[in-house]
Amino acid sequence: MGNFLAGKVIAVTGAGRGIGRAVALACAAEGAKVVVNDYGVSIEGAEPTSDVAEAVVKEIEAGNFGTRGNAGSDTGGAVGGAADRAASGAADRGSGGRGADRDPAVDAGRSGGSRAGGEAVAVADDISTMAGGRRVVETALARYGRIDGVVCVAGILRERMLFNMSEEEWDPVVATHLKGTFTVFRAASAVMRKQGSGTLIGFTSGNHQGSVSQANYSAAKGGIISLVRSAALGLHKYGVTANCVAPVARTRMSANVPMELNEIGDPEDVAALVVYLLSDRAREERITGQVYTIAGPKIAVWAQPRELRSAYADGSWTPERIADFLPGSVGTDPMPMLAQLEAMAQAAAAAKAKAEAEATAAVAVEKAVVVEKAVAVEKQATPEHAATPEKGDNPRPPHGV
Ligand SMILES: NC(=O)c1ccc[n+]([C@@H]2O[C@H](COP(=O)([O-])OP(=O)(O)OC[C@H]3O[C@@H](n4cnc5c(N)ncnc54)[C@H](O)[C@@H]3O)[C@@H](O)[C@H]2O)c1
Repeated sequence: MGNFLAGKVIAVTGAGRGIGRAVALACAAEGAKVVVNDYGVSIEGAEPTSDVAEAVVKEIEAGNFGTRGNAGSDTGGAVGGAADRAASGAADRGSGGRGADRDPAVDAGRSGGSRAGGEAVAVADDISTMAGGRRVVETALARYGRIDGVVCVAGILRERMLFNMSEEEWDPVVATHLKGTFTVFRAASAVMRKQGSGTLIGFTSGNHQGSVSQANYSAAKGGIISLVRSAALGLHKYGVTANCVAPVARTRMSANVPMELNEIGDPEDVAALVVYLLSDRAREERITGQVYTIAGPKIAVWAQPRELRSAYADGSWTPERIADFLPGSVGTDPMPMLAQLEAMAQAAAAAKAKAEAEATAAVAVEKAVVVEKAVAVEKQATPEHAATPEKGDNPRPPHGV
């Protein structure tokens, strides 16, 4: 075990799989006591089970910290298969459905225990509810007496083009990502403000810039950045920092992306950055209000939004004056993703045209071969020396007999 987070208490949401699990394990490996929150749902947010969070607690207690690439993160290998999920999902529903209805002391009692490895406690609640977010923080206080950092990783996907998206596809995605960050930040910041220290970490995505078929996800991820910046501003004077991570890592969620990702790493790469941001080393550097991308070996910081160009009217603006003035002066700031989309569309059109040209050429060659074969067959049937009989001729076979 390292000591980057020695003595700290860290809560991680979505800590049962993928990036959250890697973060929870890395925090424990660096000496933190960890609240492992996971509602244990499918990628769309269905069929909750407490097995997922409890499995990670067991890994921490057993001291299994460095499991880079452990498939259990995504496939359910470490947390039970589909049958387990269905069974415990049914059990959850039978006992009142929402994890938030359970007693944290019972969860804590079930999941705490051995100190051979690290220390952790499971909270299998839905953090998109205020009660769920509160429960994560209250469990840290009840169990370990303090909360030094919260990392809001939990997320789901419901992908659909905007013009087809239903309320049932919009609401849960925004609730899980954006409200799910608020509920935990809200509860944690009240405690951190009083103790005069703490770190809040939200999870965004490169898709906060916009998304073709995930308007719900993109909107939530953009909201998380603004929430983090608001937390950084509002809590600065209380010694609390807030930052955001935009990861790219191999998990069940990234496996859903319909295109190849050029820059991608493992959940453990993301975990290393999160541990740093939670540490006193990052606090000493006064890192707050930042958005970092981490994708395998790459770390990048995103720009702060600011005005690019401005102009002032002499008198009032009218639509007419704006129409005359704006295009050639204030102008626009082109969307990089739109340029990327257009380049992809052009490449796809060029590839299609090439494929069509090749197909046409292949058909032409095929036709030529067919014609050639037909001519050869015809030639065989009527060789040169077997002249077409004319009226009055005495036809004879080509090779005599
Ligand atoms: N994997 C990537 O490349 C990538 C890229 C950009 C952003 N992200 C973000 O990183 C985060 C983690 O993604 P991942 O790839 O590890 O996903 P994942 O699907 O592997 O893990 C997400 C976890 O969140 C849990 N969860 C879902 N809803 C919950 C709720 N209401 N309460 C508590 N837990 C809940 C799930 O049960 C699951 O274990 C997400 O916020 C995602 O949007 C990931």
